[in-house]
Amino acid sequence: MKTRKIKDRIYWVGSVDWDRRLFDALIPLPDGTSYNAYLIEGSERTALLDSVDPPMAGELLSKLEGVPRIDYIVSHHAEQDHSGTIPLILKKYPAAKLITTPKAKGMLIDLLRLPDESFITVEDGETISLGDKTLKFIHTPWVHWPETMVTWLEEDRILFSCDFFGSHIATSDLYVTDEKLVYGPAKRYFAEIMMPFRNVIEKNLEKLAPYDIAMIAPSHGQIYPRPAFIIEAYREWVLGPPRNRVILPYVSMHESTKQMVDYLVSALVERDVGVEQFNLEATDLGKLAMALVDAATIVIGTPTVLAGPHPYAAHAAFLANALRPKTKFLSIIGSYGWGGKTLETLAGMTANLKAELIDPVLCKGVPSEEDFKALDNLAAAIAEKHKEHNFI
Ligand code: FEO
Repeated sequence: MKTRKIKDRIYWVGSVDWDRRLFDALIPLPDGTSYNAYLIEGSERTALLDSVDPPMAGELLSKLEGVPRIDYIVSHHAEQDHSGTIPLILKKYPAAKLITTPKAKGMLIDLLRLPDESFITVEDGETISLGDKTLKFIHTPWVHWPETMVTWLEEDRILFSCDFFGSHIATSDLYVTDEKLVYGPAKRYFAEIMMPFRNVIEKNLEKLAPYDIAMIAPSHGQIYPRPAFIIEAYREWVLGPPRNRVILPYVSMHESTKQMVDYLVSALVERDVGVEQFNLEATDLGKLAMALVDAATIVIGTPTVLAGPHPYAAHAAFLANALRPKTKFLSIIGSYGWGGKTLETLAGMTANLKAELIDPVLCKGVPSEEDFKALDNLAAAIAEKHKEHNFI
């Protein structure tokens, strides 16, 4: 895709990655993604904001063919999907200065072995003039690494936010035209990348609140011509209460755990609790992560195998623990043959959740009437907890 004009002397020079299907070797990307870089030509100086993932380097270099001079390369974030092509840009424009936070400088040297003399570090709130356009650098740590910042283009009121507010979507539409379509890809992105840092994100949202933003231009996905849409979505994901919902990732080997899952789902629905169940044999982990954003309770369903939880269940528990959702309650159900340490292992793996453990239900072999009764009690306990907290 060619260079695209956003406003007078402001251009998108990124790459759309239609074919990428996995991010961080972990989260599926059913809709692809993009790596957005932007070129801003001031009356006196020109700046490039971020670069693209190295496999797309050729695209960026070809977009820069008619650009005689770049004075500044702004690196908002050291991760290579945005910084990885900077060495080639510096080779093409050796006089360009690389603008970063002090923390990012060390990380970029570690990751890309860039020379010390190429850097200018900027403090929070510092500005650089391009002539008739002014770049203000706002430090926004932990969206989603410790070194991250955003750029406020004062005269045009555009916020270049890098990963912050990004979405995984490949499209020829530069701007969000259908907010309903981008909500899912943005939530998928938030769930994997931002959710663990909710408390800091809240502070960063507050920090950006005084700015009268006309447009948010992130480094993944589309530009937001109505910034309130994504800012409100972030506020909901970060600050909103959990919903009256149970996330039930499960795996079953000989149907006993599956019977328990089916029974519990019915028992919860009867009590007006919403459920999303995920068969871990074929689950899109991105969907599971998205569901974790606002569910009040997680119930993990697993057989005992090799004296502990099934490895798929352990994987889901590890992921939930790492993503640190706002989940309030946790339980475990499943079947075992003769013994093991399934409960202890899963409880140990989910300490970050700080969730209250509701009595697990483990049954020997196929579930008996007594086990189904215990599942009824579990469903009743979950429904009661959700009601006590007014989760809706
Ligand atoms: Fe899109 Fe954290 O890189």
